[in-house]
Parts: sequence; structure tokens; C-alpha cells
Amino acid sequence: MASVPSLASTVQQRLADALSAALRETGPAAPSPRPAGWGDPMLRRSDRADFQANGILALAKKLKGNPRELAAKVVEAIGPNDELKEIEVSGPGFLNITLTDEAIVKTLAARAADDRLGVPYAENAGTTVVDYAQPNVAKEMHVGHLRSAVIGDAMVQILEFTGEKVIRRHHIGDWGTQYGMLIQFLIEHPHELDHEGVEEVTGEEAMSSLNRIYKASRALFDSDEAFKDRARNRVVDLQAGDPETRAHWQRFVDESKIYFYSVFDKLDMEIHDADIVGESGYNDMLDETCRLLEESGVAVRSEGALCVFFDDVKGPDGNPTPLIVKKSNGGYGYAATDLSAIRDRVQNLKANTLIYVVDARQSLHFKMVFETARRAGWLNDDVKAVQLAFGTVLGKDGKPFKTREGATVRLVDLLDEAVERATAVVREKAEKVGLTEEEIVENGRYVGIGAVKYADLSTSAARDYKFDLDQMVSLNGDTSVYLQYAYARIQSILRKAGAVKPAAHPELELASAERALGLHLDQFGEVLSEVASSHEPHKLAAYLYQLASHLTTFYDQCQVLSADNPPELVENRLFLCDLTGRTLHQGMALLGIRTPERL
Ligand code: ARG
Repeated sequence: MASVPSLASTVQQRLADALSAALRETGPAAPSPRPAGWGDPMLRRSDRADFQANGILALAKKLKGNPRELAAKVVEAIGPNDELKEIEVSGPGFLNITLTDEAIVKTLAARAADDRLGVPYAENAGTTVVDYAQPNVAKEMHVGHLRSAVIGDAMVQILEFTGEKVIRRHHIGDWGTQYGMLIQFLIEHPHELDHEGVEEVTGEEAMSSLNRIYKASRALFDSDEAFKDRARNRVVDLQAGDPETRAHWQRFVDESKIYFYSVFDKLDMEIHDADIVGESGYNDMLDETCRLLEESGVAVRSEGALCVFFDDVKGPDGNPTPLIVKKSNGGYGYAATDLSAIRDRVQNLKANTLIYVVDARQSLHFKMVFETARRAGWLNDDVKAVQLAFGTVLGKDGKPFKTREGATVRLVDLLDEAVERATAVVREKAEKVGLTEEEIVENGRYVGIGAVKYADLSTSAARDYKFDLDQMVSLNGDTSVYLQYAYARIQSILRKAGAVKPAAHPELELASAERALGLHLDQFGEVLSEVASSHEPHKLAAYLYQLASHLTTFYDQCQVLSADNPPELVENRLFLCDLTGRTLHQGMALLGIRTPERL
């Protein structure tokens, strides 16, 4: 395989380049400024040939010329090109294009020889801060936190893979007035967070202590005026940095982290302590942020509060709804923290892009925060700030997901149930595959967690989706299990092949299912770079699902290990299997989903 020349781009890209060069040579020069799409051959996969180019028709229409004539000239201008098998003008002025089998296999072979599967690094990589997986201290995690974590983790991995420098920020909710109540309670009941005789506190235990304290302190706060006063004074102490108060606050944060880490671990997701920079981390900047906003006139005093106004943001009564950066009682809100975080991320972390993976219900907040930061000069045209807004998780009834009693569903319960169902699915086939009990348990976890992640990642983030475990662990359809089985099946074939190893044979003629699979494999890098810039991980999920579907058709139509096949054919088909497997494995890993070797 080492003798295969390294081909930097995809075969589709080279074809598109050759066509647009020919278009530029034949058609008139592009007017300035160049209209969008000028000279784009608009290549599409086609059933009749490998590709159809529709761009000439569009160009001829713009020029009011004869599209078939222009098409014929383009064909002539392409000249000799040994990757092209056939190119013909068809219909009103399309080009039907078939590549040589050799061009396809050689391109794939070059990809296979590379650890990165030929995926290029982004040309102008920069620094992106991704704000995701941001649960709140002393509170149970729910499905909304799941979405942020899953989508954010996929974005982080995809961006890193394409060469971007990524800084993760878990903007946890660890600040605010409710800590006055919690801390005061803990000071008055100092043993409530002790875990007597317990060597290692589990996430469940940590959460149940926190829940208990939360409920008890809330009840006191609501019923006991004197406690309420003490709790309010405690907030002042906390903000002033009183050491005893801070120490108790820290106990809540530490206890919550035990719980967060246990959930992230269940989710099979790596979170690092250094990346947890909660709301409290910006506390020292709040004063200055507000002062700068007021001095520059971006924020003004209104009814005692410091506010930023927007022409296009009005409440239902028609009055403007401002962004409140400092309340009339002197307290800072969520917005002041996010504005300070922008300053930190742009000025100190030198980010070019800020991505916030946050519920769509916070879209107005981010719109106002970004606009305020632009007015203040903290965001300029060189910095892109986007909210990767996600929709709501719905129950089977199409309403926001709740328990039968109407409470929010605990994330851990959902994950446990997914794993349980998946384990049952794995167990059904386990005997046939020869899995040990240990493997069943491990695969059950990978399949269950994969199912939950994939269901989230396979619909566009902006859309709501129904949390339906039956559908998620189904073996048929657009599910992670289907993809995981596709991968495991490839591995089983490769094992069965024994001493016969995958090897590319560009001289062989390809069957149509092989071409379709090969041309789809060719697109991996392009899909990744598109996903990295559009922030749409569902497009990677869709690509992988199509890949598995092409593989299924290929199996149906092309025997891999048949005794009737000449050895080169077996090797070449194993080569296609192997590259498909590696692509599935890499793509799924970027989505945070494991692909067991045997399933
Ligand atoms: N902790 C918040 C929540 O649970 C999400 C934080 C989002 N990030 C941010 N920078 N505001 O809703």
C-alpha cells in the first residue's frame, strides 16, 4: 500500500476543481464582485452515472446562452484526465460523469494509508471556546443537561480533530442568592454533609445529601423569618469573600462535583476539573464589567438598575425589555457573569470563536448578551459568538418530558434504564456471538449510552425530539445500535478472513454497490469540515447512517469471502470493509459513541 501516491483531496473534489477550471476557461469571466456560485459545477451524486453536474445549466441561464452548447465546450476544455471514464452532455445541459474504478480505489487507498483517514486539518484553524455541560451545584441533572453535554462533547471532538484549538468551559451554576440559604443551614447543622464511615462517597449518595439539605433549608427559609434574615446576610458574606462562608460554599461545590463526575462517567464522557469554571469564577470581574458598561454609555441606570436597551426587544406590553446587568438592590445577575466570561474568553483565552451549547429557551439572553458585548467592543468582527441552541426533550406524548407525577426526570434514571434495555438486546445475541458475561455488561453499557447520545445527535439540535427508548435501541433504522452492528459485522468478517488481509486493487472493476460505498467513503473529510464550520453534528450522524446503509447494500450484492472469488477480489472487498469500519469507528468516536469489536 505504501506505493500508492498520496492524494491530498477527495476524488470528488478533484473532479469539481477540473470542472470549474473548464467552466472558467469556456464561460465568460466572472463579473466583479463574483456572484455566489459562479463557476460552481454543482456536482451531485446520481443514479445514472457517478455524478451529475448541474452548474452549467444555471450559468447558461444567467447568460441567456444555450446550455447544451456551453456544456459541450466545457467537456472539450477539460481535456485529457485519466480519472474520468466518461463524460457526456445530457438533457437540457447537464453533464453525466463516471469516474474510472482506478481513480476511486487509489483515492481510498491513500486515505487508508493515513491514520487520520485522509481528513485534512482546517486551513485557518483558530481557538474556539465551547461552553457546554453546565449543570448547577446542589441540583439534580435533567435531560436538558444531557443535550448540552452530548452535543457539546461531539462539537469539541470534531473541532479538535479538524485541528482547531479547543478550550472547554463548563459554566456551572455555582453562585447566587440560594447559597445564602444552603450555607447558613450547613453552618447551623455542620454534620449534614458528613458521610460517616463511608470510604468513597458515590454520586447517588452525594446527590441525596444535597437534596436533603436543599429541602430542609428551603423549608426553614420559607417558614422562619429569623433564618431568612441570617441566610440573606450570608449571601453578603459570600460575596465579600468571608473565609468561613467560602469554605462552606466550597463543600457544596465539592459534593456536587462528586455527583457530576459520576453522571459524566455514566455518560462515558471525559470532563476535567480545570475546565470547570463556574459562574463564581467571574465574580471578581463583575464590578469592572458593570463600570465599563456604564462609563461607555452602553448600559444606563433605569429604576435603580443598570440596564442595556434594544430597539427590537420588547415585552408583550410593548415596553422595551432590557438586559439587566446589575439589579436595583446591587446584586449581579446571570448576564453580568456571561458578559465577564466573554471578556475573559476573548481577551485572556484569545478565542476567535465562542460556542454556547445552551437550551433555545435562553436565546433571547444570548442575543442580548452578544449585542451588548459588541457595543462594548468586547466582541469585534474577528470574533464569532454563536449559541448552538437546542430544543426540548419531549416525552412519548409530545409534551416536555416529565415523570407520571409531573416532576422532571432524573438523568441518571434515564441512563440506567437505557443501559438495562440495551443489555437485554445484547444478551439476545450473546450466545451466538460467544460473548462472556463481562462483555455483555460492557457492551450493554456502550449500546445503551450510545443509543441515548445518538438519538440526541441524529436530529438537528434546534429541533425538539421525543425520548423513546424502544425506538432508540431498535436494531433497524437510524439508531446507534444499527451502526454498532455494522461495525461489529465488519470486524467479524475481517477475523474470518484470517490470513487474507485487506489490500486495494485499483486495477479491478467495481460493482455498482462498491462504487456507491467507495464514493461515500470519499466524502468523510468533507463532511467533517462542513460539520466543524456549521456546528451541525447531526450531519455527521446522517453521513454515518448512510455509510452503514451503503455497506448493507454492498453485503447483499457482493460476496466478500466467497470461495469463487479470485484472491484480489477478496482482498479488495476486505479493503472496502476495513476502510468502512475504520471510518465508522472514527466517526462514532467523534460523536462520543463506542463501537465494540464483537456484538
Ligand atoms: N447552568 C445553566 C443552566 O443549567 C446553563 C449555563 C449556560 N452557559 C452560560 N454561559 N450561560 O441552565
